[in-house]
Amino acid sequence: MIPKALDPRECGICCVSGAWFSFSRGLATARSLPGSSRRALDYISHTALLQAAVLYYGVSGRKSPSRSAPLGRLALLLQLYLSPGEMIGVLLLLFFLPLLLYIAAPQIRKMLSSGVCTSTVQLLGKVAVVTGANTGIGKETAKELAQRGARVYLACRDVQKGELVAREIQTVTGNQEVLVKKLDLADTKSIRAFAKGFLAEEKHLHILINNAGVMMCPYSKTADGFEMHMGVNHLGHFLLTLLLLEKLKESAPSRIVNVSSFAHHLGRIHFHNLQGEKFYSAGLAYCHSKLANILFTRELARRLKGSSVTTYSVHPGTVNSELVRHSSVMRWMWRLFSFFIKTPQQGAQTSLYCALTEGLESLSGNHFSDCHVAWVSAKARNETIARRLWDVSCDLLGIPVD
Ligand SMILES: NC(=O)c1ccc[n+]([C@@H]2O[C@H](COP(=O)([O-])OP(=O)(O)OC[C@H]3O[C@@H](n4cnc5c(N)ncnc54)[C@H](OP(=O)(O)O)[C@@H]3O)[C@@H](O)[C@H]2O)c1
Repeated sequence: MIPKALDPRECGICCVSGAWFSFSRGLATARSLPGSSRRALDYISHTALLQAAVLYYGVSGRKSPSRSAPLGRLALLLQLYLSPGEMIGVLLLLFFLPLLLYIAAPQIRKMLSSGVCTSTVQLLGKVAVVTGANTGIGKETAKELAQRGARVYLACRDVQKGELVAREIQTVTGNQEVLVKKLDLADTKSIRAFAKGFLAEEKHLHILINNAGVMMCPYSKTADGFEMHMGVNHLGHFLLTLLLLEKLKESAPSRIVNVSSFAHHLGRIHFHNLQGEKFYSAGLAYCHSKLANILFTRELARRLKGSSVTTYSVHPGTVNSELVRHSSVMRWMWRLFSFFIKTPQQGAQTSLYCALTEGLESLSGNHFSDCHVAWVSAKARNETIARRLWDVSCDLLGIPVD
């Protein structure tokens, strides 16, 4: 009989997640240290600590299982269910599993982060705008464009953060043409001011990367009353793109990259509840906005046919960035798996691929992941929804529908 205080599910989850957390943090720390001996030492110390805890509680848990010790609970549970032989088997598995994962980790990570932009195109004399370039994927995208010689505008809502990053990129790349401009996508006045300033001072625009994004925000609205995900991720970029479109056409060949997500598969465009007023889920609101990014890309490509301005949507992969800042569960998950998910630099590869690779023009309107054309949901391929979303977006933003 299992004592009432023991909840097998709780025990299992606590122990497995505790072990995994300890293990992944150990590896993450070890990874940042120089020298293979220090890495090995770090790994051994973390794993050994974990195993010592399991063994200790395994022995002592039978007499006095501590209610606050999840490993003790697991040990007791194992003793209740398993024979001594099976118990030794489980302990051996617990010992070797981290070792196996450690050995396999570089392969797993490589597998999960395939797709590298191998284009050698240089961008001297070209102009690029990257939204949300002060951190994460946007920062790495901007850095690579600057590395190739482009004049890069970091369009950021926090100018101070942007200036710090601009200086960092200038130092790393030696390219002084990295500029910061205020852009808050949650406020159409700010978007219009950004576009006005940009159009006044720049003759060309060759690459626009609509990268900025928010995820799983508690219900809130933009300055114009749009639900935050739809407002920032879709409507903000929609307006920005249309305001800069003439400049992109004048500078053709030029490209627009919209950073979407695999999460679009769970998205729906609820035209009767676009602002989330009737029902709202923070997770789904993100998915809806990412679906809108793909629909926008497809409809934009259709409208731009023959203009030498091409557009692509991308899924950057699962990337270790600040995107999960609004959800403690997601932050916890990201930390847990940080050793396996993409770095922001790896996450930038598909955006760069779509912005730079020669001969991609015929694939305008397509969705890319890991530097390949990727499959999208049936909703994301629906031209009727794409056209309707375009018209509704124009209405909401007060732009004439052509
Ligand atoms: N990370 C992933 O696993 C993942 C997966 C699929 C898709 N994506 C997409 O990749 C893109 C980049 O995300 P990330 O992972 O690099 O996230 P991140 O590190 O959180 O970067 C998001 C950027 O967007 C900016 N931003 C947020 N709200 C803004 C606003 N109202 N106006 C202007 N800028 C704003 C942020 O500025 P502040 O720093 O000032 O907040 C930040 O620079 C997003 O579109 C995201 O949906 C990411």
